[in-house]
Amino acid sequence: DGSDLTYFAAVKFGDDATEFYLLADTAATNTWVMGASCSTAACEKHSTLGSGSSSLDEKSGTFSIAYGSGQVNGTLAEDDVQIAGFTVSMTFGLAGYASSDFESFPIDGVMGLGRADMTSQSVTEGTILDALAKASLIPAKVFGMHLSRNEDAQDGEINFGAPNPSRYDGDLAWTSAMDNDRGFWEIPIDDAAVDGSSTGLSDRTAIIDSGTSYILIPADDAAALHKLVPSASKNGEVYTVPCDTTQNLQLTFSNVAYDISYRDWVGGTVGDGTCQSNIIARQTFGAKQWLVGDVFLKNVYAVFDQDNVRVGF
Ligand SMILES: *[C@@H]1O[C@H](CO)[C@@H](O)[C@H](O)[C@H]1NC(C)=O
Repeated sequence: DGSDLTYFAAVKFGDDATEFYLLADTAATNTWVMGASCSTAACEKHSTLGSGSSSLDEKSGTFSIAYGSGQVNGTLAEDDVQIAGFTVSMTFGLAGYASSDFESFPIDGVMGLGRADMTSQSVTEGTILDALAKASLIPAKVFGMHLSRNEDAQDGEINFGAPNPSRYDGDLAWTSAMDNDRGFWEIPIDDAAVDGSSTGLSDRTAIIDSGTSYILIPADDAAALHKLVPSASKNGEVYTVPCDTTQNLQLTFSNVAYDISYRDWVGGTVGDGTCQSNIIARQTFGAKQWLVGDVFLKNVYAVFDQDNVRVGF
């Protein structure tokens, strides 16, 4: 959406090819869409899938997912799904309940792009990537992701089956993804820096998450990072910095330092020439795990390679 908070794709479901906006979520393995039987305020505001599709096959299984904010549950269903010019039959969650958190988001569901083969927490048989590969519609279980910066262009893209070389210069640098039981694309961070000055933080990992707008890191790490930014100050889990800050941050993976432009990490104004930092002091998972979202991804072309268990930038 316009403020770079949410990245979603138009996906068509069913033989009537109704279009749904699904959050492109690399940190989730489950795909679900709001169902016609859902009568919460969130579902009433969105597109729902139901009897309009005669190919919809509702199953007896159920699913239930709790997010950091928001809860959804319902039954499993199978139907034709169209994306990127492909049509594939897949199993997904059909939500009979979606909490009010989903009222304000422009999405009708979630497209899981995590590593479903790594986790028992998947409610369905696999992701859309798995379904496309199983149907031999793509040559490899890999996808490339270019997230646009609204200020520059509205040209975001997911490329299934291979990276799109027209979206990046030079060579991709790969980092092996670590084992974890949640299906995350998790990679070791070599260093985090502000304008080339290292924070000295090591032994951290990044969960690369297109479904998260910002970068969420434990409070002590957020303190170490903002200490290197002149006039940064803390208010709860949010830091503020001067709006005219022009320092870039760097995250280093496999010996390559990637800039996070000040245009992305220096966020909206809170008044008096002060702006919010989009690096939030919040531990989401382990004490050494950083949730690295769109604020970073807007700065790179990212490739998620499930066959070779690696992430390339
Ligand atoms: C779905 O969640 C709602 C709200 O927590 C709950 O009332 C309902 O029983 C749940 N339904 C199922 C099938 O789990």
